[in-house]
Amino acid sequence: MRFGHFDDDAREYVITTPETPAPWINYLGSEQFFSLVSHQAGGYSFYRDPRLRRLTRYRYNNVPADAGGRYLYVNDGGDVWTPSWLPVKAHLDRFEARHGLGYSTITGERGGLSVSTTLFVPLGEDAEVQRIAVTNTSGAVKDLTLFTFVEFCLWNAYDDQTNYQRNLSIGEVEVEQDSPYGSAIYHRTEYRERRDHYAVLGINTRADGFDTDRDTFVGAFNSLGEAAVPRAGGSAGSMASGWYPIGSHSVRLVLEPGETRDLVVVLGYVENPEEHKWADDAHQVVDKRRAHELLGRFATAEHADAALAALKEHWTGLLSTYRVSSTDEKLDRMVNIWNQYQCMVTFNMSRSASYFETGIGRGMGFRDSNQDLLGFVHLIPARARERILDIAATQFPDGSAYHQYQPLTKRGNHDIGSGFNDDPLWLIAAVAAYIKETGDYSILDEQVPFDNDESLAAPLFEHLTRSFEFTVDHRGPHGLPLIGRADWNDCLNLNCFSTTPGEPFQTTENKAGGVAESVFIAAQFVLYGAEYAELARRHGQPDVASRAEKLVDEMRDAVRDYGWDGSWFLRAYDFFGNAVGTDAEPEGKIWIEPQGLAVMAGLGSETDTPDGRTRAELALDSVEEMLGTPHGLVLQYPAYTTYQVQLGEVSTYPPGYKENGGIFSHNNPWVIIAECQIGRGAQAFDHYRRITPAYREEISDVHRQEPYVYAQMIAGKEAVRHGEAKNSWLTGTAAWTFVAVSQHLLGVRPDYDGLVVDPRIGADVPSFTVTRSIRGATYEIHVEHTGAGSPSLVVDGVAIDGTLVPYAASGSTVRIDVTV
Ligand code: GLC
Ligand code: GLC
Repeated sequence: MRFGHFDDDAREYVITTPETPAPWINYLGSEQFFSLVSHQAGGYSFYRDPRLRRLTRYRYNNVPADAGGRYLYVNDGGDVWTPSWLPVKAHLDRFEARHGLGYSTITGERGGLSVSTTLFVPLGEDAEVQRIAVTNTSGAVKDLTLFTFVEFCLWNAYDDQTNYQRNLSIGEVEVEQDSPYGSAIYHRTEYRERRDHYAVLGINTRADGFDTDRDTFVGAFNSLGEAAVPRAGGSAGSMASGWYPIGSHSVRLVLEPGETRDLVVVLGYVENPEEHKWADDAHQVVDKRRAHELLGRFATAEHADAALAALKEHWTGLLSTYRVSSTDEKLDRMVNIWNQYQCMVTFNMSRSASYFETGIGRGMGFRDSNQDLLGFVHLIPARARERILDIAATQFPDGSAYHQYQPLTKRGNHDIGSGFNDDPLWLIAAVAAYIKETGDYSILDEQVPFDNDESLAAPLFEHLTRSFEFTVDHRGPHGLPLIGRADWNDCLNLNCFSTTPGEPFQTTENKAGGVAESVFIAAQFVLYGAEYAELARRHGQPDVASRAEKLVDEMRDAVRDYGWDGSWFLRAYDFFGNAVGTDAEPEGKIWIEPQGLAVMAGLGSETDTPDGRTRAELALDSVEEMLGTPHGLVLQYPAYTTYQVQLGEVSTYPPGYKENGGIFSHNNPWVIIAECQIGRGAQAFDHYRRITPAYREEISDVHRQEPYVYAQMIAGKEAVRHGEAKNSWLTGTAAWTFVAVSQHLLGVRPDYDGLVVDPRIGADVPSFTVTRSIRGATYEIHVEHTGAGSPSLVVDGVAIDGTLVPYAASGSTVRIDVTV
């Protein structure tokens, strides 16, 4: 069952009922100002950091769900309703929410009145704009009042939820009924002391009234759906003093039949330099010049429309870097629109702010951000470069890394600290991807601090060396890398041994002297260690490269000798040296992560299997047999049914959920890439379709999350609710599926000296065209599937050997014809 449909020409998903299984959200903004917006206008806004600079309030865990947003209330001759359906929930004659790239349009119609609002964050602005059109669709004159509403958050979102003894006394606002561009409300809590920033809510007309005190607007004992002021039909002019500051304007509109009135509402974030902090000598009135300038830039609907058009144009440009046109429209819409869009969002948010992450708990993840970059680097390489340098600056001198850092301060997060032994190697992956995309080797010579300490700065290449050497220096009894607190699987905590409720599995260690080893990190070391060696050679350090290759070979041998269980790769060795992920155990026999990554790393070429299949083939066959479901590949099987203190958090989840046998989508693309690599593209494409949202749209009632973005997890085959997704949006699945589909299934892959064209997708997509722009040149790649096997390439009419097309001069267009 579906709750809407794709509109590919508009690059939108169109939701046609407010009553979807869950709030289906979108993200606005991709620079400094961000908003989350659900199809019911729920969500919130923040400047750069969802914890430290939260502008508006949102209530996670609320009943009913999705409480808090930017709402418009209508009082149409006594009939009170909200065009976003929530919070009033009055029946709508028509509802439509269109989520597009960086904007959403929500339209509600009732009783012959239509209210349509497009919300977006204009490029270069620190503001959310609502471009509103109110249309009288009836045959009679309408006399109505429209009320805007936002609830301000007192900046620090954690403090906002915990420190009521202080916070309920500090709220302050200023009101300008006649601002130069209409009316405006200024949220200035804590501005009198150390803050240099305030928020402004403006409307581009002189409002008939305003409110800034929530209890007045909503009314005692009421919910937002029962708000008193809209029911009364006019604003109360309340001034907040402590308690709960809000912003609300009211505008009376008299509309002839068929008449439309346009309005623009702006929620902005403004910083004032010290010398422009105050408008008066007594330091009581905020200097509003910058806010006025902002409101002036959106003084008319035409201004707003132009900014929206510029945003759409911007996305057209970004998405032109990689485009496919094939026989499969679902494939095209994921590759051309939604997967790349989700890559942008995960790059911006890491795992901080979604409807499943509160924006308080986590900052930017070291491993997460490095992987997110793999799916983003082609969109805006300069921002990827900046991100790499930020991440590397949080690395410790011994090569280990803070697991997370705060985006506002760019400092490592002490609460979680370090000790996740896969973290350092992901930095090599990100840097290699950046250089392949851009050819910019100069990044290797950038001076980058360790632990944010400038006095410890060293060239970025030295950071990669320390990443590599950290693994070399932390090997266990089998020569495999020590796992530390966890590897990619945050819940495989082999040194934790927690028996106390509430203890964090990731940071607690109750036993000393652990030598638990990870086969996953071993595969990662082979994959990215080889990449490091390549970079060393290209950086003019052949001796470093040879030494690295030797160490990588040693690791290959260790995996060959101690990392194989007979039909698949082992997962790990635990604290006591017992194998994890072995057929000898009743549960957790086979784990997905090492299978995908080991084959990606080229491991498993041995043919010492009962029927002579390579280990790689056998491992991937075992994956399909043991882990395969119609909804994707589960993480391990059988799931743990009891708590295994020696394994940690993984066994705390009920069977089939999250890391305990859930379909943890992030690792599925590793298997997709691995299948491509061993030449089984049809199988790879099958895996791809099972987790990819556009192919799951028809079962939206089962999947329940947004049908346009990947979810971190889909409940596994042993779960009560098999097929149900959770944790949509912020997941490494976005980047990795984009890598899998663009570089391996469709097979267009940047390398250091040229573009590799090696399509693997198989007969299900018999022909397609990819247009790829890279390093200033454009490549038109036409692929015909003839069943010939290995691909033959004709470049500008000339057949070439192999699959590497050397980079062409900037400005040129290269035509590549491929038969495969
Ligand atoms: C979450 C984390 C990620 C981790 C994964 C598996 O998605 O953000 O860092 O690798 O879970 O545990
Ligand atoms: C939980 C989640 C896992 C996430 C981790 C981050 O363990 O299950 O996905 O990576 O928290 O701390």
